Amino acid sequence: MTQQRLDPDRIPRHVAIVMDGNGRWAKMRGLPRLQGHNAGMMALKEIVKRSSVLGITHLTVYAFSTENWKRPEEEVFGIFKLLVLYVQKEIRELNDNNVRVNIWGDWSILPSDAQNAIRKAMRTTQNNTGLCFNIALNYGGRAEILKAVRSICSEIQSGAFSIDSIDESMLSSRMYTNGVPDPDLIIRTGGEYRLSNFMIWQAAYSEFVVTDVLWPDFSPDEYEKAILEYQSRDRRYGGLT
Ligand code: IPE
Ligand code: IPE
Ligand code: MG
Repeated sequence: MTQQRLDPDRIPRHVAIVMDGNGRWAKMRGLPRLQGHNAGMMALKEIVKRSSVLGITHLTVYAFSTENWKRPEEEVFGIFKLLVLYVQKEIRELNDNNVRVNIWGDWSILPSDAQNAIRKAMRTTQNNTGLCFNIALNYGGRAEILKAVRSICSEIQSGAFSIDSIDESMLSSRMYTNGVPDPDLIIRTGGEYRLSNFMIWQAAYSEFVVTDVLWPDFSPDEYEKAILEYQSRDRRYGGLT
């Protein structure tokens, strides 16, 4: 419905989403939190599809943060199980739609079935040329920066280059987003006005849209509303219009 009103020349290249509100969605219905995460997976499926249709080239979603380990074990491992199911169910359609799947974050410590599903998804879709769909999983912005700094320091230690040659582009090249444009638009569902450690390096000039809609209720139509809001923004990057 909103689609006609979107300016096709100002579609964001990279949209990043903090998919928040699954727990509240479940609580409102008297359901266990995991049911909320399950409903969230369904919502995600539709958003990925609409992203391709709209011509967005990069979609990044925050699925599990480095701080989410503070939750009860049952919820944490339930989320990983759902993820495996999602990948198994969706991989074929994602591949048919030419979507390339990437997983950002330290997923090396996840349960082995989750790791296998991730490897399979990345391998199956690695040559696809459509939407780049990135899932931030056991991801933290501070951990990402720390990883980049460590990698640069170890190369300096080995004599590969000097401290003077460190610049922003070198640091950027050590992030998961190497080669990916910074997010133009960051959407957060669930109504909180914070980043919660998501893409803190890359968000320097991103536009924010926060909606009270809980993630499982975030429809493609709501998605287009957020993009419409983005299109009304004046991006000055510190300069003048
Ligand atoms: C977001 O939903 C999903 C994850 C953090 C894994 P929440 O589970 O945080 O939902 P609320 O914020 O409790 O409603
Ligand atoms: C952010 O949501 C992380 C994800 C959506 C994966 P949280 O629910 O963890 O964020 P806080 O705790 O409200 O900041
Ligand atoms: Mg939350």
